[in-house]
Amino acid sequence: MPEKLKKYVISGGKPLNGEVSLSGGKNAVVGIIPAAVLVKGVCVIENVPAINDVADLVDIMKKMGADVRYLDEKTLRIDSTNVVSYVADYDAVRKLRASYYLIGALLGRFGHARVGLPGGCDFVERPIDYHIKGFEALGAIVDIKHGIVVADAEKLTGTSMNLDFPSVGATVNIMLAAVLAEGLTVIENAGKEPHIVDIANFLNAMGAQIKGAGTDVIKIKGVAELHGGHYEIIPDQIEAGTFMAAAAAAGGRVILRNVIPKHLESISAKIEESGAKVEEFDDYLIVSRDADSPIKNLNIKTLPYPGFPTDMQSQMAALLSRAGGTSIITETIFSHRFKYVDELRRMGAKMTVDGNICVIEGVDKLTGASVRACDLRTGVTLVIAALIAEGITEISDVRYIERGYENIVDKLRSLGADIKVVNDDTPAVTETKIS
Ligand code: EPZ
Repeated sequence: MPEKLKKYVISGGKPLNGEVSLSGGKNAVVGIIPAAVLVKGVCVIENVPAINDVADLVDIMKKMGADVRYLDEKTLRIDSTNVVSYVADYDAVRKLRASYYLIGALLGRFGHARVGLPGGCDFVERPIDYHIKGFEALGAIVDIKHGIVVADAEKLTGTSMNLDFPSVGATVNIMLAAVLAEGLTVIENAGKEPHIVDIANFLNAMGAQIKGAGTDVIKIKGVAELHGGHYEIIPDQIEAGTFMAAAAAAGGRVILRNVIPKHLESISAKIEESGAKVEEFDDYLIVSRDADSPIKNLNIKTLPYPGFPTDMQSQMAALLSRAGGTSIITETIFSHRFKYVDELRRMGAKMTVDGNICVIEGVDKLTGASVRACDLRTGVTLVIAALIAEGITEISDVRYIERGYENIVDKLRSLGADIKVVNDDTPAVTETKIS
């Protein structure tokens, strides 16, 4: 019996007050779980977020013969010793984007990989040519047959390569394929995101020899094999940013625990520029704004880390929809990432999109409406808009949100939000008959 679709029903206009502890990083854990395929031994991974992407990856790993079990609700034990299959389940792989990390991990472990092209957030066309170019540079022959990436290598030999773009996925995937290769691999123009560093640190904890993660030159010295070990995943940078934007939008005072302020610098700067206050401490921060103080307009340009993250631009658009004056968001990482604008327009937002630029005219108020999430970050953007809208908003397709946000409803409710989860076929309560 397929699980019933759910929707969120949110009554807006309330400030957020209180504290929440954030979860482990989605974009770190979705790289670390596939990386465990490279390890002949037991990996114990702590601070794992309970999100659908993790559940899907665990399912894929089990189908390949890995022994995967939870030691407690946030700790995964993965033993890939007996994994003999280098074929990943085609349909399961389509459920998320990060399944492409299995290509690098299986190629690194077995010299072979059969992994369907990934699915996941499809806000724009997302090729994997940089990944394939990296695998070929290491000596693999890669082809795409019937929707499956077919990669084979007699031997993987370290080499130097320069990425056309500091791609997060390509940087991680090449690292995965290179850790057991013969000799030294140098990735120039590598991605520097915190989750890339976390995945490199995980691999080093298992015996890999990776240097320079977090800089634009990563050096991987191939080793004979990796051993088991323990690792704790970093806090989620984008979940923290999302709650910061929600607090700045709704007003109030929110304490966010289990954060690394250093990872949030570009986000904190923009939240403060919008008129909210950000107080940083060693592993927590406080975001506050008096509900009657104005939200200020500002401009955002997304850039590779440490620039402003593309995964935060839609959340900022929800905040800026209520700013005084005009704001401009320029998306430079993806060719287009404004699918959320149509849904925000239903709530009264005034936005125009031209290519990779979105111009936002702040409005005095948003009104509740029935809206639909179309990907992870769009979904959470609608949640922020609903928190500050007048009246009731119903958000359908929340499964997208739950791919990457652990217990978001409980966390928001603990901050005073009026949010509940109902079956999607529950009659609409949002005003749909305008007199
Ligand atoms: C990762 O996606 C993240 N996903 C994305 O987060 C994030 O938006 C993105 O990095 C940028 O930070 C995960 O980590 C699982 P890229 P990825 O390779 O690796 C182009 C979220 O909401 N490109 O850095 O796919 C690409 O089209 C998700 O958590 C190629 O052309 O991003 C884009 O324009 C959404 N060919 C740019 O590079 C390639 O082979 C950056 O993409 C690879 C990428």
